[in-house]
Amino acid sequence: MTTVSITDSLVPSPVPKSAIIRLENIFKVYGSGETEVKALNNVNLIINEGEYSSIMGPSGSGKSTAMNIIGCLDRPTNGHYYLDNVDVAQMDDKALAHIRNKKLGFVFQQFHLLPQLTALENVMLPMAYANVNPTERRDRAVAALTRVGLEKRLNNKPNQLSGGQQQRVAIARAIVNRPVVLLADEPTGALDSRTTQEVLDIFTELNASGITVVMVTHEPDVARQTQRIVWFRDGEVIHSHLTPSDLTHLAV
Ligand SMILES: Nc1ncnc2c1ncn2[C@@H]1O[C@H](COP(=O)(O)OP(=O)(O)OP(=O)(O)O)[C@@H](O)[C@H]1O
Ligand SMILES: [Mg+2]
Repeated sequence: MTTVSITDSLVPSPVPKSAIIRLENIFKVYGSGETEVKALNNVNLIINEGEYSSIMGPSGSGKSTAMNIIGCLDRPTNGHYYLDNVDVAQMDDKALAHIRNKKLGFVFQQFHLLPQLTALENVMLPMAYANVNPTERRDRAVAALTRVGLEKRLNNKPNQLSGGQQQRVAIARAIVNRPVVLLADEPTGALDSRTTQEVLDIFTELNASGITVVMVTHEPDVARQTQRIVWFRDGEVIHSHLTPSDLTHLAV
């Protein structure tokens, strides 16, 4: 006989996690006629708030194309993209720029810092578009640079910083507007193994503080440090929920 205790019935059912990113039947076609490339072919993907995921797959499989759409840097040819429950798939450039500034942070392999600006000025820049007053801009930029361990490098220009330090400035710039999602396309691709680990430790810490992190990588050792691996091939998601240990058994 099964007995159900009163305490059992009082245990709350787990709160369902909310989908912060939801791609539905996403297609992306570049060019037309003979030069047509189907970069994304019916991609469906849900990323929940608070997850730390990586995207892997061969070169040309559509990882960056998907990231650019997720990051509102580009629009899909077809399909729906719900970011925080709002379909942004066909929004115009101005609306997308506004959403990027409010909700998203983006980190690239090549840092993309402005060479004539100091670390502090680079990090203050996104707030110029976000209507933050100058004193708060400075305070928040210093706080973001401190968070990535660069409080002693505020006035250095990018060419006075190492690759790892430049990427940390780029991360500070990406988080300074307090995004809900941090996207990174091969953020450690140009770094050696020690600085790679420094950058990954920052991502882990940002994720622990509540930011959803999605990162493209070619390196299994990098992907293993995330919670979930999404695998692309030929413009399709062929695995959406690999675990770090699954990577060991998969032909990479
Ligand atoms: N702007 C573009 N115009 C035309 N074709 C493009 C464009 N961007 C990407 N492609 C094509 O779309 C496909 C997917 O490219 P994508 O950059 O998304 O691949 P990837 O998985 O990020 O590759 P990698 O690992 O080399 O960065 C490729 O065939 C690529 O040549
Ligand atoms: Mg790419």
